[in-house]
Amino acid sequence: MTDASWKLIDKWKNKPQGQVWRVRDARGRSGFFKFAYPEQWYNAGPLVGNEWIATALAEKLHLPCASVEITELTDGPHCLHGIVSLPRQGVHLFSWNRAPEQIRTNPPHYLRDFDHLLDVIAFDVWLTNIDRGSGKNIILYRDHAMYNWYLIDHAYCAYGCDRKWQPAKWTELYWKQVWQFYHIPRGWLQFIKPERLLRAAQKIAALPERSIAELIATVPDPLYSQSIKDQVTTMLLTRKQELGEILTTWIHYQGTKESRV
Ligand SMILES: Nc1ncnc2c1ncn2[C@@H]1O[C@H](COP(=O)(O)OP(=O)(O)OP(=O)(O)O)[C@@H](O)[C@H]1O
Ligand SMILES: [Mg+2]
Repeated sequence: MTDASWKLIDKWKNKPQGQVWRVRDARGRSGFFKFAYPEQWYNAGPLVGNEWIATALAEKLHLPCASVEITELTDGPHCLHGIVSLPRQGVHLFSWNRAPEQIRTNPPHYLRDFDHLLDVIAFDVWLTNIDRGSGKNIILYRDHAMYNWYLIDHAYCAYGCDRKWQPAKWTELYWKQVWQFYHIPRGWLQFIKPERLLRAAQKIAALPERSIAELIATVPDPLYSQSIKDQVTTMLLTRKQELGEILTTWIHYQGTKESRV
């Protein structure tokens, strides 16, 4: 996952939670280089490590994600450590929230494997991802008569950032009450099949503990410090056992579960 040949095209986004620069490599591939300056820690946390571990875990669950490459980019005197998210090349890409109305109102008809996309709810809840509801982080593209999808932007998964834990520490009830921190994209609720969602939770629960611990241990230095690795390991191993119960509570919850945007 490491490659040092990326060159800056433009400094596209500069936000409290990190930078996104457009980059290109010698092979002509384009990418989105994400990183944060040390002074952005409160809002950004170890975003590169979060992206890396979430992508690796999604792979284990066969959830299509953008490929990512850890890289260093030189900007004047600075050597920046970040991650490049690779867009699918040669196709027109758009995010779920920008999809035509007919796709958003009848996704099973237009999207390949929409049921599997709904499994992302179990994944996000496991990783306490607070950033899916807007639909910006689900990318679609046309493939013959249907649309394919893949996931991007896992900066707020797992450790996230210190700001994420302001409402409550990961051990508190707040993070078991999904509606407090997570909304599904607008329009999805009618398509959720509880048995399927609970099966997705079971698949996560069935991931061998050792394989998760080993994966977290291999997050490259210095993306996660040892104490962050320890916290993320305990958190993910604990939450995977509780996931069925957490999702059952959410399924029965009668309040707002969909994003309003
Ligand atoms: N692999 C990818 N495929 C398609 N688009 C991508 C990919 N990676 C990043 N992008 C685009 O770059 C934008 C910014 O990337 P990302 O979401 O990871 O960062 P962000 O800091 O959350 O920015 P934003 O607030 O725009 O979401 C995305 O919203 C998307 O438009
Ligand atoms: Mg984003």
